[in-house]
Amino acid sequence: MPKGLSVLEASLRNNVPHASVCGGRARCSTCRIRVIGDHAELPQPSQREAFVLGRVGANDPSIRLACQLRPTSDLSFFQLFIPNLATANAHAGSPSRIGEERYLVSLFVDMRGSTRLAEKMLPFDTVFVVNRFLAAVSQAVIECGGRPNQFVGDGMLALFGLTGNAQIACRQAIRSAALISANIDELNRFLAHDLREPLRFGIGIHGGEVIVGDIGYRDHMVFTALGDAVNVAARLQDMTKTLACEAIFSEEVRVTAGLGEHDLPEQQVEIRGRAEPMIVRVVTEAKVLSGLVERIGAAAPALVESAV
Ligand code: FES
Repeated sequence: MPKGLSVLEASLRNNVPHASVCGGRARCSTCRIRVIGDHAELPQPSQREAFVLGRVGANDPSIRLACQLRPTSDLSFFQLFIPNLATANAHAGSPSRIGEERYLVSLFVDMRGSTRLAEKMLPFDTVFVVNRFLAAVSQAVIECGGRPNQFVGDGMLALFGLTGNAQIACRQAIRSAALISANIDELNRFLAHDLREPLRFGIGIHGGEVIVGDIGYRDHMVFTALGDAVNVAARLQDMTKTLACEAIFSEEVRVTAGLGEHDLPEQQVEIRGRAEPMIVRVVTEAKVLSGLVERIGAAAPALVESAV
């Protein structure tokens, strides 16, 4: 190989499958190799390469990122990740589906009391009610420009910001929480004769950089988002039970959406798996959010993008 090429480029030029999910941008570490033999002559890792290797706990100097290492002499190595031939270098062919990093707002919504519901209803009736619940939630999400992404039992993950900027995404998610509340109210009126108690829900919203792409296996690939921001949204949703409220969103979402500092009560909470406590906004009744987002202009048609 000519000098100056990276190990990854050398692999790809010679049609050697080599995992490189981020497309060689030192953001994923899947191109990692172990250099065989003397590694003393290798160029020192750049700051970025050292950071990524540190993040994944690769302290062994023989482990390097193939996309960053540009050897100046012959070299033997083996890959640490066996490339999946279908997706190893898929970044080049389909950049929007493999490992794209972007700001997204995740909204988790969950139906409360579904276990009790299942105890008191026939199984088919329970499925009917859960499906009506998920339909009411999904309609609200789509109408506000979001995308229903995953259904887990009686809960759902919705994503905002796949096509817009961060502020639009945050406003859409907050507006969607208000619309979910309105839709569930309407559903409760419709089912009033069939339910012993009205359906209730909890919503968690958080935004941040995540990886979006297809995950799964062969014919079972699904498009989704992975990352700390998604996990935090799920934890906030869970926290609505203990804080006895309908919705919780992060300070990050409030600030990005442009909501006033005194619009909603602030609370500092511990999030499992995070070292630092987090500031959140607690929303006892999600319907109050519709007034807030209208005030900042989230209801303007320009902000409502169609779902993708
Ligand atoms: S390809 Fe992602 S870090 Fe090298």
